[in-house]
Amino acid sequence: MIKVNIEDAKASLQKDEFNEAREKALNARDKVINKSGEGAEWLGWRDLLSNPNDAILENIDSLATEVRADADVFIVCGIGGSYLGARAVIDALGPFFPVDNGPEILFAGHQMSGKYLEQLIEYISTPKDDGSAKSVYLNVISKSGTTLETALSFRILRKWLYEHFEDADERIFCTTSEIGGALNKLVEEHGYKKFIIPSDIGGRFSVLTPVGLLPIAVAGIDIRTLFYGAVSQYDKLENGTDGMVDYAAVRYALYNKGKEIDVISSFEPELKYLARWMQQLLGESEGKDGKGIFPTVAGYSTDLHSLGQMIQQGERNLLETFITVRKPTSQLTLEETEDNGDGLNYLAGKTFHEINAKAYEGTKQAHVEGAVPAITVTMDELNAQNLGELIYFYEFFTAVFVYCLEVNPFNQPGVENYKKAMYRLLGKE
Ligand code: PA5
Repeated sequence: MIKVNIEDAKASLQKDEFNEAREKALNARDKVINKSGEGAEWLGWRDLLSNPNDAILENIDSLATEVRADADVFIVCGIGGSYLGARAVIDALGPFFPVDNGPEILFAGHQMSGKYLEQLIEYISTPKDDGSAKSVYLNVISKSGTTLETALSFRILRKWLYEHFEDADERIFCTTSEIGGALNKLVEEHGYKKFIIPSDIGGRFSVLTPVGLLPIAVAGIDIRTLFYGAVSQYDKLENGTDGMVDYAAVRYALYNKGKEIDVISSFEPELKYLARWMQQLLGESEGKDGKGIFPTVAGYSTDLHSLGQMIQQGERNLLETFITVRKPTSQLTLEETEDNGDGLNYLAGKTFHEINAKAYEGTKQAHVEGAVPAITVTMDELNAQNLGELIYFYEFFTAVFVYCLEVNPFNQPGVENYKKAMYRLLGKE
Protein backbone atom coordinates (compact mmCIF):
# COMPACT_ATOMS: atom_id res chain seq x y z
CA MET A 1 0.00 0.00 0.00
CA ILE A 2 1.14 3.55 -0.70
CA LYS A 3 -0.12 6.71 0.99
CA VAL A 4 0.21 10.31 -0.09
CA ASN A 5 0.20 13.06 2.53
CA ILE A 6 -0.35 16.54 1.08
CA GLU A 7 -1.44 18.28 4.30
CA ASP A 8 1.80 20.20 4.90
CA ALA A 9 1.70 21.51 1.34
CA LYS A 10 -2.02 22.22 1.30
CA ALA A 11 -1.64 24.31 4.47
CA SER A 12 0.38 26.85 2.48
CA LEU A 13 -2.55 27.45 0.07
CA GLN A 14 -5.71 29.55 0.35
CA LYS A 15 -8.93 27.55 0.11
CA ASP A 16 -9.91 29.05 -3.25
CA GLU A 17 -6.41 28.49 -4.68
CA PHE A 18 -6.78 24.79 -3.89
CA ASN A 19 -10.38 24.55 -5.06
CA GLU A 20 -9.67 26.16 -8.43
CA ALA A 21 -6.68 23.90 -8.97
CA ARG A 22 -8.80 20.90 -7.99
CA GLU A 23 -11.34 21.68 -10.71
CA LYS A 24 -8.50 21.77 -13.20
CA ALA A 25 -7.06 18.48 -11.91
CA LEU A 26 -10.46 16.76 -12.10
CA ASN A 27 -10.80 17.86 -15.73
CA ALA A 28 -7.27 16.66 -16.41
CA ARG A 29 -8.11 13.27 -14.90
CA ASP A 30 -11.17 13.01 -17.18
CA LYS A 31 -8.93 13.68 -20.17
CA VAL A 32 -6.75 10.70 -19.26
CA ILE A 33 -9.67 8.37 -18.53
CA ASN A 34 -11.66 9.41 -21.63
CA LYS A 35 -8.58 9.54 -23.86
CA SER A 36 -9.60 13.05 -24.89
CA GLY A 37 -6.38 14.96 -24.17
CA GLU A 38 -3.49 15.83 -26.46
CA GLY A 39 -1.25 12.81 -27.11
CA ALA A 40 -4.01 10.31 -26.21
CA GLU A 41 -2.54 7.87 -28.74
CA TRP A 42 0.27 7.32 -26.20
CA LEU A 43 -1.88 5.88 -23.42
CA GLY A 44 -0.76 2.28 -23.96
CA TRP A 45 0.73 2.20 -20.44
CA ARG A 46 -2.87 2.22 -19.17
CA ASP A 47 -4.20 -0.42 -21.58
CA LEU A 48 -1.34 -2.66 -20.45
CA LEU A 49 -2.90 -2.80 -16.98
CA SER A 50 -6.57 -2.81 -17.94
CA ASN A 51 -5.95 -5.97 -19.91
CA PRO A 52 -2.91 -7.81 -18.44
CA ASN A 53 -1.04 -10.13 -20.78
CA ASP A 54 0.09 -13.01 -18.54
CA ALA A 55 1.77 -14.77 -21.48
CA ILE A 56 4.36 -11.97 -21.72
CA LEU A 57 5.04 -12.17 -17.98
CA GLU A 58 5.49 -15.94 -18.23
CA ASN A 59 7.73 -15.67 -21.29
CA ILE A 60 9.97 -13.13 -19.53
CA ASP A 61 9.98 -15.13 -16.32
CA SER A 62 11.02 -18.37 -17.98
CA LEU A 63 13.87 -16.70 -19.89
CA ALA A 64 14.97 -14.93 -16.69
CA THR A 65 15.04 -18.27 -14.83
CA GLU A 66 17.30 -19.78 -17.51
CA VAL A 67 19.61 -16.76 -17.47
CA ARG A 68 19.79 -16.68 -13.67
CA ALA A 69 20.85 -20.32 -13.64
CA ASP A 70 23.82 -19.63 -15.92
CA ALA A 71 24.82 -15.94 -15.78
CA ASP A 72 27.44 -14.32 -13.59
CA VAL A 73 26.83 -10.92 -15.15
CA PHE A 74 23.78 -9.50 -16.91
CA ILE A 75 24.40 -6.19 -18.65
CA VAL A 76 21.49 -3.84 -19.27
CA CYS A 77 22.33 -1.50 -22.14
CA GLY A 78 19.95 1.46 -22.47
CA ILE A 79 19.34 5.08 -21.48
CA GLY A 80 16.52 7.30 -20.20
CA GLY A 81 13.21 5.49 -20.25
CA SER A 82 14.99 2.41 -21.58
CA TYR A 83 17.03 2.14 -18.38
CA LEU A 84 15.83 4.15 -15.37
CA GLY A 85 12.73 2.10 -14.52
CA ALA A 86 14.65 -1.18 -14.35
CA ARG A 87 17.43 0.42 -12.36
CA ALA A 88 14.93 2.01 -9.95
CA VAL A 89 13.30 -1.32 -9.08
CA ILE A 90 16.53 -3.35 -9.04
CA ASP A 91 18.28 -0.85 -6.77
CA ALA A 92 15.26 -0.57 -4.49
CA LEU A 93 14.88 -4.32 -3.95
CA GLY A 94 18.37 -5.63 -4.64
CA PRO A 95 21.42 -5.71 -2.39
CA PHE A 96 23.86 -2.80 -2.07
CA PHE A 97 26.82 -5.13 -2.67
CA PRO A 98 27.16 -8.15 -4.99
CA VAL A 99 25.84 -11.41 -3.54
CA ASP A 100 26.24 -14.97 -4.67
CA ASN A 101 22.68 -16.03 -5.39
CA GLY A 102 22.19 -14.63 -8.88
CA PRO A 103 23.89 -12.64 -11.61
CA GLU A 104 25.34 -9.25 -10.97
CA ILE A 105 23.28 -6.65 -12.88
CA LEU A 106 25.47 -4.02 -14.53
CA PHE A 107 24.45 -1.05 -16.64
CA ALA A 108 25.88 0.35 -19.87
CA GLY A 109 24.71 2.52 -22.72
CA HIS A 110 23.57 5.29 -20.37
CA GLN A 111 26.53 7.59 -21.08
CA MET A 112 29.46 7.84 -23.48
CA SER A 113 32.40 7.35 -21.14
CA GLY A 114 35.19 5.33 -22.80
CA LYS A 115 36.77 4.88 -19.38
CA TYR A 116 33.60 3.28 -18.03
CA LEU A 117 33.35 0.87 -20.98
CA GLU A 118 37.03 -0.05 -20.78
CA GLN A 119 36.72 -0.84 -17.09
CA LEU A 120 33.49 -2.76 -17.67
CA ILE A 121 35.22 -4.89 -20.32
CA GLU A 122 38.15 -5.43 -17.99
CA TYR A 123 35.79 -6.46 -15.19
CA ILE A 124 33.81 -8.96 -17.26
CA SER A 125 37.05 -10.33 -18.77
CA THR A 126 38.52 -11.01 -15.32
CA PRO A 127 38.03 -14.70 -14.40
CA LYS A 128 36.12 -15.72 -11.28
CA ASP A 129 37.92 -16.76 -8.07
CA ASP A 130 37.94 -20.41 -9.27
CA GLY A 131 39.73 -19.35 -12.50
CA SER A 132 36.79 -19.95 -14.83
CA ALA A 133 35.46 -17.25 -17.17
CA LYS A 134 32.46 -15.15 -16.18
CA SER A 135 29.26 -16.06 -18.00
CA VAL A 136 27.92 -12.81 -19.46
CA TYR A 137 24.56 -11.92 -21.03
CA LEU A 138 23.52 -8.65 -22.64
CA ASN A 139 20.11 -7.02 -22.93
CA VAL A 140 20.11 -4.03 -25.29
CA ILE A 141 17.05 -1.83 -24.92
CA SER A 142 16.22 0.91 -27.40
CA LYS A 143 12.84 1.71 -28.87
CA SER A 144 14.28 3.76 -31.71
CA GLY A 145 17.31 1.54 -32.11
CA THR A 146 19.31 4.64 -32.95
CA THR A 147 20.19 6.21 -29.58
CA LEU A 148 23.90 6.99 -29.75
CA GLU A 149 24.87 6.23 -26.13
CA THR A 150 23.21 2.81 -26.30
CA ALA A 151 24.39 1.99 -29.84
CA LEU A 152 28.03 2.82 -29.01
CA SER A 153 28.11 0.61 -25.94
CA PHE A 154 26.23 -2.16 -27.70
CA ARG A 155 28.77 -2.23 -30.52
CA ILE A 156 31.68 -2.61 -28.08
CA LEU A 157 29.96 -5.16 -25.83
CA ARG A 158 28.60 -7.21 -28.74
CA LYS A 159 32.09 -7.49 -30.22
CA TRP A 160 33.43 -8.62 -26.83
CA LEU A 161 30.69 -11.26 -26.54
CA TYR A 162 31.49 -12.68 -29.98
CA GLU A 163 35.17 -12.85 -29.07
CA HIS A 164 34.46 -14.75 -25.87
CA PHE A 165 31.41 -16.97 -26.46
CA GLU A 166 30.62 -19.34 -29.30
CA ASP A 167 26.96 -19.06 -28.40
CA ALA A 168 27.02 -15.22 -28.32
CA ASP A 169 23.82 -15.07 -30.41
CA GLU A 170 21.96 -16.78 -27.56
CA ARG A 171 23.38 -14.39 -24.97
CA ILE A 172 22.07 -11.22 -26.57
CA PHE A 173 18.47 -10.08 -26.04
CA CYS A 174 17.00 -7.08 -27.87
CA THR A 175 14.11 -5.04 -26.54
CA THR A 176 12.96 -2.70 -29.28
CA SER A 177 10.01 -1.57 -31.39
CA GLU A 178 8.06 -4.06 -33.46
CA ILE A 179 9.55 -2.94 -36.78
CA GLY A 180 12.32 -0.70 -38.10
CA GLY A 181 15.56 0.54 -36.61
CA ALA A 182 19.06 -0.90 -36.51
CA LEU A 183 18.26 -3.37 -33.75
CA ASN A 184 15.54 -5.11 -35.74
CA LYS A 185 18.04 -5.54 -38.58
CA LEU A 186 20.50 -7.21 -36.22
CA VAL A 187 17.73 -9.39 -34.78
CA GLU A 188 16.94 -10.62 -38.29
CA GLU A 189 20.59 -11.27 -39.11
CA HIS A 190 21.54 -13.06 -35.87
CA GLY A 191 18.26 -14.43 -34.56
CA TYR A 192 18.61 -12.65 -31.22
CA LYS A 193 15.73 -13.18 -28.83
CA LYS A 194 13.52 -10.12 -29.14
CA PHE A 195 11.02 -8.37 -26.89
CA ILE A 196 8.68 -5.70 -28.22
CA ILE A 197 8.14 -2.20 -26.82
CA PRO A 198 4.54 -1.38 -27.76
CA SER A 199 4.34 1.56 -30.17
CA ASP A 200 1.80 3.42 -28.01
CA ILE A 201 4.05 3.51 -24.92
CA GLY A 202 6.78 6.13 -24.60
CA GLY A 203 10.13 5.30 -23.00
CA ARG A 204 9.52 6.92 -19.62
CA PHE A 205 6.17 5.08 -19.28
CA SER A 206 7.62 1.69 -20.29
CA VAL A 207 8.95 0.12 -17.08
CA LEU A 208 6.04 -2.35 -16.92
CA THR A 209 6.78 -3.62 -20.45
CA PRO A 210 9.73 -5.95 -21.29
CA VAL A 211 11.92 -2.79 -21.13
CA GLY A 212 11.86 -2.96 -17.35
CA LEU A 213 10.46 -6.41 -16.69
CA LEU A 214 13.23 -8.51 -18.27
CA PRO A 215 16.14 -6.96 -16.31
CA ILE A 216 14.00 -6.87 -13.16
CA ALA A 217 13.14 -10.57 -13.52
CA VAL A 218 16.79 -11.49 -14.15
CA ALA A 219 17.61 -9.63 -10.93
CA GLY A 220 15.40 -12.20 -9.16
CA ILE A 221 12.49 -9.86 -8.44
CA ASP A 222 8.95 -11.20 -8.72
CA ILE A 223 7.62 -9.36 -11.80
CA ARG A 224 4.09 -10.73 -11.40
CA THR A 225 3.81 -9.12 -7.98
CA LEU A 226 5.27 -5.88 -9.33
CA PHE A 227 2.96 -5.88 -12.35
CA TYR A 228 -0.16 -6.83 -10.40
CA GLY A 229 0.73 -4.22 -7.78
CA ALA A 230 0.43 -1.71 -10.61
CA VAL A 231 -2.84 -3.34 -11.72
CA SER A 232 -4.27 -2.94 -8.21
CA GLN A 233 -3.33 0.76 -8.28
CA TYR A 234 -4.92 1.04 -11.72
CA ASP A 235 -8.18 -0.36 -10.33
CA LYS A 236 -8.07 2.02 -7.36
CA LEU A 237 -7.51 5.06 -9.56
CA GLU A 238 -10.24 4.04 -12.02
CA ASN A 239 -12.79 3.70 -9.27
CA GLY A 240 -11.87 6.73 -7.19
CA THR A 241 -9.23 9.41 -7.12
CA ASP A 242 -7.43 7.98 -4.06
CA GLY A 243 -5.97 11.38 -3.18
CA MET A 244 -4.27 11.64 -6.57
CA VAL A 245 -6.41 14.51 -7.84
CA ASP A 246 -5.86 16.46 -4.60
CA TYR A 247 -2.12 15.87 -4.94
CA ALA A 248 -2.13 17.11 -8.55
CA ALA A 249 -4.20 20.12 -7.47
CA VAL A 250 -1.81 21.02 -4.66
CA ARG A 251 1.25 20.72 -6.90
CA TYR A 252 -0.44 22.78 -9.62
CA ALA A 253 -1.54 25.50 -7.18
CA LEU A 254 1.98 25.62 -5.73
CA TYR A 255 3.41 26.00 -9.24
CA ASN A 256 1.06 28.91 -9.82
CA LYS A 257 2.45 30.50 -6.64
CA GLY A 258 6.05 30.34 -7.87
CA LYS A 259 7.18 26.91 -6.66
CA GLU A 260 9.25 26.07 -9.72
CA ILE A 261 11.51 23.32 -8.36
CA ASP A 262 10.44 20.00 -6.85
CA VAL A 263 13.13 18.39 -4.71
CA ILE A 264 12.38 14.65 -4.84
CA SER A 265 14.11 13.25 -1.81
CA SER A 266 14.43 10.12 0.28
CA PHE A 267 16.29 9.01 3.36
CA GLU A 268 16.67 5.52 1.85
CA PRO A 269 19.74 5.41 -0.45
CA GLU A 270 18.35 2.42 -2.36
CA LEU A 271 15.55 4.71 -3.58
CA LYS A 272 17.85 7.17 -5.35
CA TYR A 273 17.08 5.68 -8.75
CA LEU A 274 13.38 5.56 -8.03
CA ALA A 275 13.64 9.32 -7.51
CA ARG A 276 15.62 9.59 -10.74
CA TRP A 277 12.96 7.60 -12.58
CA MET A 278 10.35 10.03 -11.19
CA GLN A 279 12.57 12.93 -12.21
CA GLN A 280 12.56 11.78 -15.83
CA LEU A 281 8.87 10.89 -15.83
CA LEU A 282 7.85 14.30 -14.52
CA GLY A 283 10.55 16.42 -16.13
CA GLU A 284 10.36 15.08 -19.67
CA SER A 285 6.56 15.15 -19.53
CA GLU A 286 5.96 18.65 -18.16
CA GLY A 287 8.95 20.69 -19.33
CA LYS A 288 7.53 22.17 -22.54
CA ASP A 289 6.14 25.42 -23.93
CA GLY A 290 8.07 27.40 -21.31
CA LYS A 291 6.21 25.60 -18.51
CA GLY A 292 6.84 22.98 -15.84
CA ILE A 293 8.30 22.37 -12.42
CA PHE A 294 11.99 21.41 -12.53
CA PRO A 295 12.34 18.05 -10.73
CA THR A 296 15.60 17.51 -8.94
CA VAL A 297 16.78 14.63 -6.76
CA ALA A 298 18.31 14.74 -3.29
CA GLY A 299 19.56 11.78 -1.26
CA TYR A 300 19.21 12.43 2.47
CA SER A 301 20.65 12.69 4.95
CA THR A 302 23.81 12.90 2.77
CA ASP A 303 22.64 15.91 0.76
CA LEU A 304 21.45 17.79 3.84
CA HIS A 305 25.16 18.37 4.36
CA SER A 306 25.51 19.98 0.93
CA LEU A 307 22.08 21.22 -0.21
CA GLY A 308 20.43 21.60 3.19
CA GLN A 309 21.36 25.26 3.57
CA MET A 310 19.97 26.15 0.15
CA ILE A 311 16.76 24.27 0.77
CA GLN A 312 16.26 25.82 4.20
CA GLN A 313 17.06 29.46 3.42
CA GLY A 314 17.75 29.98 -0.31
CA GLU A 315 15.33 31.29 -2.92
CA ARG A 316 11.79 30.29 -1.86
CA ASN A 317 10.85 28.66 -5.17
CA LEU A 318 11.02 25.05 -3.90
CA LEU A 319 8.59 22.35 -2.97
CA GLU A 320 9.70 18.97 -1.73
CA THR A 321 8.49 15.42 -2.32
CA PHE A 322 9.67 12.91 0.28
CA ILE A 323 9.56 9.21 -0.57
CA THR A 324 9.48 7.20 2.66
CA VAL A 325 9.12 3.57 3.76
CA ARG A 326 7.18 2.77 6.94
CA LYS A 327 8.50 -0.73 7.75
CA PRO A 328 12.19 -1.05 8.62
CA THR A 329 14.46 -2.54 5.96
CA SER A 330 17.04 -3.39 8.65
CA GLN A 331 17.03 -4.14 12.36
CA LEU A 332 20.50 -2.74 13.02
CA THR A 333 20.35 -1.31 16.54
CA LEU A 334 22.75 0.98 18.38
CA GLU A 335 24.17 -0.64 21.49
CA GLU A 336 25.12 1.11 24.70
CA THR A 337 28.85 1.37 25.49
CA GLU A 338 30.30 1.63 28.98
CA ASP A 339 32.41 4.72 28.45
CA ASN A 340 29.96 6.51 26.11
CA GLY A 341 33.09 8.04 24.58
CA ASP A 342 31.25 9.21 21.47
CA GLY A 343 28.31 10.53 23.51
CA LEU A 344 25.80 8.43 21.56
CA ASN A 345 24.34 6.46 24.46
CA TYR A 346 21.20 8.62 24.36
CA LEU A 347 20.38 6.68 21.17
CA ALA A 348 21.16 3.24 22.59
CA GLY A 349 18.43 0.70 21.92
CA LYS A 350 17.15 2.56 18.88
CA THR A 351 17.32 1.03 15.39
CA PHE A 352 18.90 2.94 12.51
CA HIS A 353 15.44 2.93 10.95
CA GLU A 354 14.04 4.79 13.96
CA ILE A 355 16.90 7.29 13.92
CA ASN A 356 16.51 7.82 10.15
CA ALA A 357 12.74 8.24 10.54
CA LYS A 358 13.27 11.02 13.10
CA ALA A 359 15.77 12.64 10.73
CA TYR A 360 13.03 12.66 8.06
CA GLU A 361 10.43 14.09 10.44
CA GLY A 362 12.80 16.76 11.71
CA THR A 363 13.90 17.70 8.20
CA LYS A 364 10.34 17.94 6.94
CA GLN A 365 9.35 20.09 9.93
CA ALA A 366 12.31 22.43 9.43
CA HIS A 367 11.77 22.73 5.67
CA VAL A 368 8.05 23.38 6.03
CA GLU A 369 8.82 26.07 8.63
CA GLY A 370 11.29 27.47 6.09
CA ALA A 371 8.43 27.84 3.55
CA VAL A 372 9.18 24.70 1.52
CA PRO A 373 5.81 22.92 1.15
CA ALA A 374 6.25 19.17 1.59
CA ILE A 375 4.44 16.19 0.11
CA THR A 376 5.18 12.74 1.51
CA VAL A 377 4.61 9.50 -0.36
CA THR A 378 4.93 6.48 1.91
CA MET A 379 5.30 2.86 0.94
CA ASP A 380 4.09 0.66 3.75
CA GLU A 381 6.94 -1.73 3.03
CA LEU A 382 9.68 -1.79 0.42
CA ASN A 383 8.50 -4.64 -1.80
CA ALA A 384 7.52 -5.41 -5.39
CA GLN A 385 3.78 -4.92 -4.76
CA ASN A 386 4.21 -1.40 -3.38
CA LEU A 387 6.74 -0.41 -6.04
CA GLY A 388 4.25 -1.53 -8.70
CA GLU A 389 1.58 0.59 -7.02
CA LEU A 390 3.88 3.60 -6.83
CA ILE A 391 5.00 3.27 -10.45
CA TYR A 392 1.48 3.34 -11.83
CA PHE A 393 0.44 6.03 -9.35
CA TYR A 394 3.16 8.33 -10.66
CA GLU A 395 2.50 7.51 -14.31
CA PHE A 396 -1.15 8.48 -13.89
CA PHE A 397 -0.28 11.44 -11.67
CA THR A 398 2.20 12.75 -14.26
CA ALA A 399 -0.38 12.64 -17.05
CA VAL A 400 -2.97 14.41 -14.87
CA PHE A 401 -0.58 17.07 -13.60
CA VAL A 402 0.79 17.83 -17.07
CA TYR A 403 -2.71 18.18 -18.52
CA CYS A 404 -3.31 20.79 -15.78
CA LEU A 405 -0.48 22.78 -17.42
CA GLU A 406 -2.23 22.37 -20.79
CA VAL A 407 0.80 20.58 -22.18
CA ASN A 408 1.05 17.27 -24.06
CA PRO A 409 2.61 14.90 -21.47
CA PHE A 410 3.72 12.26 -23.93
CA ASN A 411 6.13 13.85 -26.40
CA GLN A 412 9.66 15.22 -25.94
CA PRO A 413 10.38 17.42 -28.97
CA GLY A 414 13.12 19.37 -27.20
CA VAL A 415 15.33 16.31 -26.70
CA GLU A 416 16.05 16.33 -30.44
CA ASN A 417 17.82 19.70 -30.31
CA TYR A 418 20.97 18.52 -28.54
CA LYS A 419 21.03 15.42 -30.72
CA LYS A 420 20.92 17.47 -33.93
CA ALA A 421 23.72 19.76 -32.74
CA MET A 422 25.81 16.78 -31.55
CA TYR A 423 25.34 14.79 -34.78
CA ARG A 424 26.26 17.86 -36.84
CA LEU A 425 29.49 18.22 -34.86
CA LEU A 426 30.18 14.49 -35.19
CA GLY A 427 29.72 14.67 -38.97
CA LYS A 428 26.67 12.38 -39.22
CA GLU A 429 25.03 12.56 -42.67
O1 PA5 B 1 11.37 8.55 -22.41
C1 PA5 B 1 11.94 8.63 -23.48
O2 PA5 B 1 11.32 8.64 -24.56
C2 PA5 B 1 13.44 8.70 -23.58
O3 PA5 B 1 14.02 8.78 -22.33
C3 PA5 B 1 13.98 7.44 -24.25
O4 PA5 B 1 13.56 6.33 -23.54
C4 PA5 B 1 15.48 7.47 -24.35
O5 PA5 B 1 15.89 8.62 -25.03
C5 PA5 B 1 16.02 6.24 -25.03
O6 PA5 B 1 15.44 6.10 -26.29
P1 PA5 B 1 15.47 4.73 -27.05
O7 PA5 B 1 14.71 3.74 -26.27
O8 PA5 B 1 14.85 5.01 -28.38
O9 PA5 B 1 16.93 4.35 -27.18
